[in-house]
Amino acid sequence: MAKLSGLNTWKELQSHYEKIKNLHLREMFALEPDRAETMAVEEEGVYFDYSKHRANGETMSLLFKLAKEAGLREKTESMFKGEKINNTEGRSVLHIALRAPKTAKIMVDGKDVMPGVHATLDKMAAFSEKVRKGEWKGYTGKTIKNIVNIGIGGSDLGPVMAYEALKKYTQRNLVFRFVSNIDDTDFAECTHDLNPEETLFIVASKTFTTLETMTNAHTARAWVLKALKDDKAIAKHFVALSTNAEEVSKFGIDTANMFEFWDWVGGRYSMTSAIGLSNMIALGADNYRAMLGGFHKMDEHFRTAPFEKNMPVIMALLGLWYADFFGAETIAVLPYEQYLKRFPAYLQQMTMESNGKTVTNEGERVTYQTGSIYWGEPGTNGQHSFYQLIHQGTKLIPCEFIAFGKSLNPTGNHHDLLMANVFAQSAALAFGKTADEVRAEKTPENLVNHKVFEGNKPSTTILMEKLTPEALGKLIALYEHCVFTQSVIWGINAFDQWGVQLGKVLAGKIAPDLESDSQLKHDASTNALIAKYRKIK
Ligand code: F6P
Repeated sequence: MAKLSGLNTWKELQSHYEKIKNLHLREMFALEPDRAETMAVEEEGVYFDYSKHRANGETMSLLFKLAKEAGLREKTESMFKGEKINNTEGRSVLHIALRAPKTAKIMVDGKDVMPGVHATLDKMAAFSEKVRKGEWKGYTGKTIKNIVNIGIGGSDLGPVMAYEALKKYTQRNLVFRFVSNIDDTDFAECTHDLNPEETLFIVASKTFTTLETMTNAHTARAWVLKALKDDKAIAKHFVALSTNAEEVSKFGIDTANMFEFWDWVGGRYSMTSAIGLSNMIALGADNYRAMLGGFHKMDEHFRTAPFEKNMPVIMALLGLWYADFFGAETIAVLPYEQYLKRFPAYLQQMTMESNGKTVTNEGERVTYQTGSIYWGEPGTNGQHSFYQLIHQGTKLIPCEFIAFGKSLNPTGNHHDLLMANVFAQSAALAFGKTADEVRAEKTPENLVNHKVFEGNKPSTTILMEKLTPEALGKLIALYEHCVFTQSVIWGINAFDQWGVQLGKVLAGKIAPDLESDSQLKHDASTNALIAKYRKIK
């Protein structure tokens, strides 16, 4: 592909932007009274309203043309067929295989990966059932009641997010905890009230070499051995989720208790691999498979729906429209569903570790903005915190509202009030309140400007019936394919993460200096910080 910013369509988008940049959503709705219908998609039980965006039919046509010119269809097929699209690591990218049916055939290096995927799922299901039924006993014969997942990044954020999101569907007599941080407080707080005899550790690490996870896993090992005083206890209290059987075995975990996955599963795309074991134990195999079914439905929607009806594609193009033409730096994700409280944190790794890149697939510096900063909190809490800046601040922050028609805990009129708030927020952001409207309320003149809402703040509203395992799967896959679509257009690799390496290497060089009083050979600032720390500790 020619350089993105050199494409005619890109230039057309630039002049189109000049034409519509000052157009207000109030005018847009007046000019196109049918926007609510024409700029909404309903597919796979997801109502996706993008009418409150600073875009019109012409904008969308140009953006769809851009996606076509970027070869989105062809590149999507390459991904689904298992081609090695992660070019800097020479790997296929096949999280879609993890939720494909048994009948699918997906080849990597001449081998169908699907039998392995389903064998792991079956092994996970059998193990989960044992734990759920109380048949998996600890070393002293006590029933396992506590499940602690030790992992970080993709080996933590997906499981903890899905556990919180689907808590309503979990087996409540089991306790689930998630340890990720190397900060000793994390392990201490997660285990302080647990009995080692009743605790199972799931060590989740694709590589099984990650410093944080291995440090926590060794601490867990020592914690179990201190109480049970026999190495044989490890087999009953530890299982591993990994691609690295050798390291698992070195750690002392029997590889019979290892749930396998493969290098074509990226860390941040791994929650439907063996990494989901804690979720399967919590939810049961049927609910877990229903979640996979939701992922698969969205995978198929993305692969086959025309761009005009393709939710991940539309979402991606609008994100790019604001990032590259309006200069917006962030996107707020605002779930009006308490159970989705960890969803924004999960999305941060998925979006920002994927598309936080400055060079193209060919290694050339990009001349445009790439990945946006994703952040957010559940509504309505955010309304009493940071929404002020979105409404009246100087920055343009596109918002993504997520809501469900039914509450999982119906109580009085709470849900109507919650929904009234989400609808009110997107309307207030889009249409604002003019000075004349403020004056009509007999506002003293000195307060008029303070009470004006400029409006013209764009948002998408994603509305689904109810937060179920299937709905969650669809929602996550929607974002996964949105990220992929953007990476294709930006010409970057969404599936590597070289940017996390340097800090790891430097930490490895600094760590020995904290345990000795050797002469410090780092930069002046780092030397001073280490010297100060040596005194404090
Ligand atoms: O932060 C870098 C990273 O490699 C992530 O991409 C990954 O999810 C995380 O570390 C954990 O890696 P692992 O599962 O190998 O422990």
